[in-house]
Amino acid sequence: MSLRRSLAATAIFATAIFACLRGSNGQADFQFEFSETSFTVSVGGITLLAHSPENPIAFVGRGTSSFAESLGSFLVDDAIEEKVALDAFEVEGVGETVEVALFRAGEPGGVRVQMSLSSGERDAGGMVALRFPLVATLATLGGDVNRLWVRWPADPSEKIFGGGEQFTYLNLRGHRFPTWTREGGIGRDDSFLANAANLTNPGSAGDYHTTYWPQASFLSTRKYYFVSDFHGYQVPDFSASGYHEIYYHATEATLLFLAGDTATPLRDLVRDFCTWTNRPFQLPDWIFNGAILGVQGGTDRMLEIYEQCRANGVSISAIWIQDWSGKITTTLGTRVFWNWRWNQTWYPDLDVVIQDLLPDVRITGYINPYLNTEGDIFQEAAGLGHLVVERNGEPYVQEHGGFAAGTVDLFRPEARRWYKDLMKANMMDLGLAGWMADFGEYLPVDAFTSHEGGDPYEAHNLLPLYWAITNREAVEEEGKMEEILFWMRSGSPGSSLHQQMAWAGDQNVNWEEADGMPSTVTAALSLGLSGMGRTHFDVGGYTTFVIVLERSKELLLRSAEYAAFTSVMRTHEGNMPASNHQVYTDDDTMEQFARLVDVYVALAPYAKSLLAENSETGFPIQRPLFLEYEGDEASYGVQYQYLYGRDLLVAPVLQPEVVSRGLTDE
Ligand SMILES: *[C@@H]1O[C@H](CO)[C@@H](O)[C@H](O)[C@H]1NC(C)=O
Ligand SMILES: *[C@@H]1O[C@H](CO)[C@@H](O)[C@H](O)[C@H]1NC(C)=O
Repeated sequence: MSLRRSLAATAIFATAIFACLRGSNGQADFQFEFSETSFTVSVGGITLLAHSPENPIAFVGRGTSSFAESLGSFLVDDAIEEKVALDAFEVEGVGETVEVALFRAGEPGGVRVQMSLSSGERDAGGMVALRFPLVATLATLGGDVNRLWVRWPADPSEKIFGGGEQFTYLNLRGHRFPTWTREGGIGRDDSFLANAANLTNPGSAGDYHTTYWPQASFLSTRKYYFVSDFHGYQVPDFSASGYHEIYYHATEATLLFLAGDTATPLRDLVRDFCTWTNRPFQLPDWIFNGAILGVQGGTDRMLEIYEQCRANGVSISAIWIQDWSGKITTTLGTRVFWNWRWNQTWYPDLDVVIQDLLPDVRITGYINPYLNTEGDIFQEAAGLGHLVVERNGEPYVQEHGGFAAGTVDLFRPEARRWYKDLMKANMMDLGLAGWMADFGEYLPVDAFTSHEGGDPYEAHNLLPLYWAITNREAVEEEGKMEEILFWMRSGSPGSSLHQQMAWAGDQNVNWEEADGMPSTVTAALSLGLSGMGRTHFDVGGYTTFVIVLERSKELLLRSAEYAAFTSVMRTHEGNMPASNHQVYTDDDTMEQFARLVDVYVALAPYAKSLLAENSETGFPIQRPLFLEYEGDEASYGVQYQYLYGRDLLVAPVLQPEVVSRGLTDE
């Protein structure tokens, strides 16, 4: 920390020099400069914070909000009643930290925000602590307020990337991003489908920002990485040309800035952030034996499709049966029975079949953090007090579309232990080699959990993290991290420390950029820049509606072609298998699919080297072009191509009836 001043007492100056000498390596971490009416805070010549009466750093105010949940979509009603600029400040101390009081001009005794600037190491719970040259902590004192806004400077040409898993925008500039884990929604545009979804269930159409994994961390082309150390509802806003702003449903905030200087490569910033939120993961080798084939319908059907694929030359690494625990019939069609135990009537002899197929092929299953109220496991959990509850202490039961379910209180260590034991006994002991660890986004804000902070808003965004922890620990405690693969869609900051593999959730079985196959490229790239660089997607997409939205053969094969250049190639039949073209629909599809799986398998040595790099540094496997070619201005606008490692540029065909594409388009 160094200090240059144009005003204030020499005594303060002397203290500042002292603080500077105590810096980590004798280098100045941040520089604080101030005059009577303004101040700036910079690192390596990059201005990170700035304040003047016209452009204050902080605002406080009051608001009311409601978060109405329905099938994992949230109607957020957020009314701001008051927003007051704290346009005056006073430097109160310059030592190891710089203390600044922010208040309203002429009202030094009124509501104020105490801002503390320092440099220091932060631990994300992983292997590596990261030193942030600038940590700004703001706390509101006095006043009847419940909202805080923090602003920092932006350049009109600056670009912002990351934000967790984003499906619409890779460059987030020009938009605001409510940070609230939820369903991605059906359609993210004004399509017929999105409108129909909203009519059926208000809010179930997605929006440009709706995502399973929102995260308030960003890379700026002004050469810094920003992390918000807060888990409740917040809205980073990049829509202004001269500043960025975060709106907090809180009166305290901590902003972490990672920066070197103006010559630091963006790559280094991303790598440092990713290493911080990464754990060395050794994924099972078997994933490279072929595709993970998604099928359902009982033992006979599973084996029949598997044999058919094999007969047509398709290499299969695993069969994925999401309905291993059985099916239920609801008014909305058939759904998996959320009672996590092998259904022996539906899958007779599954235990024997699993052993018979080894060592060539594995069987994987499905689980989520919810329990169907009709099941005995729900009853057991309720009796043990392992479920999220209502105010009256009764299990909080949510409607899931034709049936109801409770949520395991994963914040509760005893509940986690119990759920891990269930996963070990019912899944791993049966011989399942992995599973989709689905959901995690539905926790309502009036639910009571054992989350320490007790704040339901924080608990909502953190449940995905605890769901990831539960899965990792279950597998790790059995010593099976190199044998089992679980994949997840929901995420919170820190989830990348626990998830072996993410997948992009539910896409429409179409070509739309908003919510079809192309959106998975944006998702992989944004999530990769946010610390989770191991991702894949449902080959062929998921969301299907009879006649209106059905999967074509062309879409299926094009998406398989693109999936060959990702870490995991896994098919999904979709929510209406009979309406969709499937890899096993005809011989021609199987033969073409077989060829694409062969490409994936042939790339295994390369793919493994990328996983190894990712394991060590967290650096994303699929990366945007600018990350390797940051001097190339044109690369920043490329959203639908990616580098698969350093050496392969992948430009998937994402449109129907097209047999080639140029590399100069986006
Ligand atoms: C669906 O409803 C949400 C919430 O009211 C709204 O924000 C969104 O624009 C709607 N989408 C469509 C396609 O009508
Ligand atoms: C097993 O699955 C079948 C078919 O999906 C279902 O009818 C039956 O109720 C399930 N049995 C149990 C014990 O869950």
